[in-house]
Amino acid sequence: SYLEEDKVTEECKDLMRSLPSSEQGFLYQYQGSWIPAFSMQGVISFHKHFQAHDTDILLVTSPKVGTTWLKSILFSLLNRVRYDPNAHQHPLLTNNPHKLVPFLEIDLYSTKQVPDLTSFTSPRLLSTHLPYSLLTRSMKDSMCKIVYLCRNPKDTFVSMWHFRNSTRVNQGMNPSTIKQDFDNFSKGISPYGPYWDHVTSYWKESLEKSEKVFFLEYEKMKEQPTIYLKKLAEFLECAFSPEEEVKGVADDILRLCSFENLSNLEVNKRGKILMVNKAALFRRGEVGDWMNHLTAEMSETLDRITKEKFHSVGLKV
Ligand code: A3P
Repeated sequence: SYLEEDKVTEECKDLMRSLPSSEQGFLYQYQGSWIPAFSMQGVISFHKHFQAHDTDILLVTSPKVGTTWLKSILFSLLNRVRYDPNAHQHPLLTNNPHKLVPFLEIDLYSTKQVPDLTSFTSPRLLSTHLPYSLLTRSMKDSMCKIVYLCRNPKDTFVSMWHFRNSTRVNQGMNPSTIKQDFDNFSKGISPYGPYWDHVTSYWKESLEKSEKVFFLEYEKMKEQPTIYLKKLAEFLECAFSPEEEVKGVADDILRLCSFENLSNLEVNKRGKILMVNKAALFRRGEVGDWMNHLTAEMSETLDRITKEKFHSVGLKV
């Protein structure tokens, strides 16, 4: 029921039959990662056909860590000469960020047809939820750059729980209790999870190849947005010029992409994108909402797992 049958090849169906699944067929365990059924075809086609360019820029995230925000920031940063962030005709004012920066496996490669990417101008700005191990050889070996965004596991889980329930209700299903979803998440069973392995896979790469992988945290971006946006621009080799510094272009971009601004745009209030209600992409956009939802025991469980998995690789979030 999570598959659009006519868009899926027999090869994909055969593969899925051979894989362990969870959550009533919502997730499939593929090469160590829990892939949502709806993106299995996309993963297979993408693996077969996607060829990275040296100039590509890839945003990688786990779901609910602030993907929509970073998509809008990267789009406005890279296109700031063509589209002044203050312009009344800026594309972000009339397009959802997921339309301007598409997902490889959920959008571009999601059907059995191979997408035509010739209309993308260089640098191509693309995105994925896949862990590092599931990127293609050409992505790993080329000079393409990866921006990785993570978020503290407790807020990520709470955001995911709300989001999954809003999509469940939309599909006529019953919402899940936080306990049910929590047990799965802490066992590593979550979209593109285990969450911790996803994060550490990119963290390790960012340590070894700092010119290729830029590791960013939602909380730091919220706390010191201008500083991190400037670092991001330097990493992408499009640092702000002294004139832009004087004009405050970085802050213009941040204002355009703020939760307040994006969530109040008509284009983001109604309708769907990638089968999801656009409004569900904007909930609170704050740090620490887990305190309103997790029991002390849940919080301790996630803290313990995070400590085990992150601290052993030197990651403190
Ligand atoms: P909350 O559920 O905690 O509010 P994703 O885009 O990866 O699906 O992540 C969604 C989370 O990012 C949601 O978190 C959402 O509210 C938050 N978010 C969306 N737009 C944002 C923005 N412009 N700035 C900060 N956070 C934003």
